[in-house]
Amino acid sequence: MGSFPTSLLSTFLRPNSIPFQHQPPRRPLAPPTSLPQPSACRVFSTRIEENQPTVTTTRRPKRKWLKKLISSTRKHRSKSVKEDQPLPSMIFKVFDDIIINFIDPPLRVSVDPKYVLSHNFSPVNELPPTECEMIEGTLPSCLDGAYFRNGPNPQYLPRGPYHLFDGDGMLHAIRISKGKATFCSRYVKTYKYQTEKDAGSPIFPNVFSGFNGMTASIARLAVSTGRILMGQFDPTKGIGVANTSIAYFGNKLYALGESDLPYAIKLATNGDIITIGRDDFDGKLLTNMTAHPKIDPVTKETFAFRYGPGPPFLTFFWFNENGKKQDDVPIFSVISPSFIHDFAITKNYAIFPENQIEMSLTGLIGGGSPVRADPRKVARLGVIPRYDKDDSEMKWFEVPGLNVVHCINAWEEDHGDTIVMVAPNILSVEHALERMDLIHASVEKVTMDLKSGMVSRYPLSIRNLDFAVINPAFIAVKNRYIYCGVGDPMPKISGVVKLDISLSEVDRHECIVASRMFGRGCFGGEPFFVAKEPKNPYADEDDGYIVSYVHNEITGDSRFVVMDAKSPTLEIVAAVKLPHRVPYGFHGLFVRENDLTTL
Ligand SMILES: [Fe+2]
Repeated sequence: MGSFPTSLLSTFLRPNSIPFQHQPPRRPLAPPTSLPQPSACRVFSTRIEENQPTVTTTRRPKRKWLKKLISSTRKHRSKSVKEDQPLPSMIFKVFDDIIINFIDPPLRVSVDPKYVLSHNFSPVNELPPTECEMIEGTLPSCLDGAYFRNGPNPQYLPRGPYHLFDGDGMLHAIRISKGKATFCSRYVKTYKYQTEKDAGSPIFPNVFSGFNGMTASIARLAVSTGRILMGQFDPTKGIGVANTSIAYFGNKLYALGESDLPYAIKLATNGDIITIGRDDFDGKLLTNMTAHPKIDPVTKETFAFRYGPGPPFLTFFWFNENGKKQDDVPIFSVISPSFIHDFAITKNYAIFPENQIEMSLTGLIGGGSPVRADPRKVARLGVIPRYDKDDSEMKWFEVPGLNVVHCINAWEEDHGDTIVMVAPNILSVEHALERMDLIHASVEKVTMDLKSGMVSRYPLSIRNLDFAVINPAFIAVKNRYIYCGVGDPMPKISGVVKLDISLSEVDRHECIVASRMFGRGCFGGEPFFVAKEPKNPYADEDDGYIVSYVHNEITGDSRFVVMDAKSPTLEIVAAVKLPHRVPYGFHGLFVRENDLTTL
């Protein structure tokens, strides 16, 4: 998902600073229907250590807060701080304890690790390439390559505030060749990950979860500044976690998170995932980049953007087919920092959704989060010619109530005078970051008349749908089919549905034409469409397979499933048992073998 780069102040340090030691649940987990209740909440990946009893020799009773601080510090020292650890590191950890215990404890469910990391959201250890067992059907021959899925997997147990978007990125890849599968899970070796691994504790500011009032923010900024001055980390080398998505462009494969530069990745011949490093594209990409670049399947050009807290709040750019970055195009017509996570392209345009979620110091001063929905703001869509050098030709369309976070596709009609976009619209945007379990997203078709400025829109389905994909060959051109995850709640996905957009053109009714629910206690992630014949221009748009990881919360098993995209039941044609659990995550990609070999 996303992050505001200024959200640097949050830091969470656990006293024992021990990486997760992941253990399977001892008993089956009941399938949660919403946010888990505290009694049912199990962070089953955490190694529990026995605390040494604290002996107090002071005769006079201490104040409660002082007792807590002393106790916390003693536990901290007894469990994690090495005797030879530098004094500044110990001091910073004590400050962290003070912030976590007395200024900003993780009180909200959206940042409480007990909730956020419960059940199959808890992280797993890395897994080297491991051969998989086929448990159903056979893998189609067109699945010759590897499916990757990215997601948050914190290296250390967060003791302070932790949002789902904050975890270190871990890639889960299943390499398929001649019907056999090998699975591997590896962290993206970001600068943050490697620095904290070397330090033996989390030291970076958290990007998403820590801002809850001015006092906590100032305190965390002070600690982070101290750490930077003492050389514990260098923010110019990146603060991102690369946990959101993965993209192949310019003959390279990248793990992406929108608060940092892309991290180049490759897959070894044995199926191992290797981080090559942070890529600044010959010095032309200085700061962060979206996790949702768009690759034009015809021109092979890649379009991207970044957003941030300071002007220009939005910047557009693109890469040629060889991955060479072109000049930035600042979008000065965006006048406030907005949460622009995704966008769409057509043959000639790029479309940016500016929703009601933005960053405001008002929220921070008022004691809350600076990232929140502003009910007074009117959502709008911006259309800019995709090769323009500035935003002078950009047109904005006000669309009240259209809060788009993910875009599915867009295209041109009427000889380029009309833009059509399909995207999930978050109906209850006030819950967007705080209570994702309460979000309902309705996939809509939005039409913009570039001449008259008229906008029309209507839903394609009443279901709660997001994490949608199409046949990648149809990006930027008119397409018919969409494959959506059914939120239960997002990002847990209880099934996949197939929408036929063409039905909306004759009668505005439900467009779902095929469905596959995973069953009781089973939840998947974002689906991905793999064409049977990617080089056949006459192949049907839906002639291919939908793939996804699915986890069974009752048995604890995870599997890779392959569904027939043409089947009205999205019939499962193959299933592979995975050698370990795959936590719920974000976005994925199938990379064909001939592309893997170029990395
Ligand atoms: Fe996303």
